[in-house]
Amino acid sequence: MFDVDEIRKDFPILQTKMNGKPLVYLDSAATSQKPIQVIQAIVDYYKTFNANIHRGIYAISEKATEAYTESKEKVAKFINAGSYRNIVYYRSTTEAINIVARSWGEQNLKQGDHVLITEMEHHSNMVPWQMLARRKGVVLDYVKLKGSAYIDMDDLNEKLSLKPKLVAFTHVSNVLGTINDAKQITKMAHEEGATVLIDGAQSVPHMPIDVKSIDCDFLAFSGHKMLGPAGIGVLYGKEDILEKMEPVLGGGDMIRTVSFYSCSWNELPWKFEAGTQNIEGGIGLGAAIDYLNKLGMNAVREHERKLTSYALKRLDEANVKVYGIKTDLDHKAGVISFNVEGIHAHDLAQIFDSEGIAIRSGHHCAMPLVNELLKEPAVARMSFYIYNKEEEVDKAIEAVEKARRLLLRKK
Ligand SMILES: Cc1ncc(COP(=O)(O)O)c(C=O)c1O
Repeated sequence: MFDVDEIRKDFPILQTKMNGKPLVYLDSAATSQKPIQVIQAIVDYYKTFNANIHRGIYAISEKATEAYTESKEKVAKFINAGSYRNIVYYRSTTEAINIVARSWGEQNLKQGDHVLITEMEHHSNMVPWQMLARRKGVVLDYVKLKGSAYIDMDDLNEKLSLKPKLVAFTHVSNVLGTINDAKQITKMAHEEGATVLIDGAQSVPHMPIDVKSIDCDFLAFSGHKMLGPAGIGVLYGKEDILEKMEPVLGGGDMIRTVSFYSCSWNELPWKFEAGTQNIEGGIGLGAAIDYLNKLGMNAVREHERKLTSYALKRLDEANVKVYGIKTDLDHKAGVISFNVEGIHAHDLAQIFDSEGIAIRSGHHCAMPLVNELLKEPAVARMSFYIYNKEEEVDKAIEAVEKARRLLLRKK
């Protein structure tokens, strides 16, 4: 049973107030809150077995090594990867994508090669490819959007005919909430010979993900958006591809042998993890995955789908402008961008703040989409997770009315 009231008891921050009002946290797309089980796992590590991994021949170091490796096994199982060998830890989605651009991109792309991304990408799946384009002279193409909501599959077909070497796209848009058909896009890209990278920052925390079924070559996501701590992110890669990739960072732990003038790499996934790693981050992420597994990812998705449906209905009744998908809930995640006519999104977010409600406003690290396609200087965004309730959506609607009363001088 998915019992939100019970779930909320596990989140200490949800018992606190913001500006004197009970905290209503509607910004989980930026970062999620953390349950006590995750906090406690990190505290336990520091209190009882804090030691470096892969080096100590003593019990607490072995325990830390085991816990860190076990967290990778949990991640691998969570996304149905073959083994922990497919799981490399970096700081975040952003860092994972940058590493693919630096390593795989440098090795496999040459001047004139095409990289295909979409118009709905977060900067973290856009800027690394722009940087690669500058360094190597690769050509960056964009798949257009349809109805400012979906990937235009006809345009995708057309751009694929240019035979891009890499297709990189977000599974779920952090602005529009659109859930893209990752399996279909991957299949189409593979048919044209492209390697496929998926930005899973907004999908992995919220729905069941099966990398074997999707068949993507890379998947990147962030621990802090899925109940885990900040500073730990995941790069999943197919083993044969990771084997051929050169590490970007060199140093301790990522080597097998070193002589004065040469060295050889450690086995996967360690060859990509140079120096002391974010051990507490790995352990915390493992605890986060345990928590999500207990709920079940189908139940997580179903909860958010219901809440999103309710929020879309309430926003429509309140005459609030919503961007992206409004009724097609099969393709809509719990991310809703909106604006209230006559009120800047930042002013709206401030009124929400005064009511204890955390939402985000701005370009959401997707400036081309928000500024050039939606043609807005900023949009407000509410985003949901396992701990949100319909009453919180009601409070958000009340805050919209308050903003109108205060800023539009309406009675
Ligand atoms: C779709 C998407 N990709 C990538 C990122 C970047 O995540 P991080 O800041 O954890 O690297 C975000 C963060 O909001 C996102 O929403």
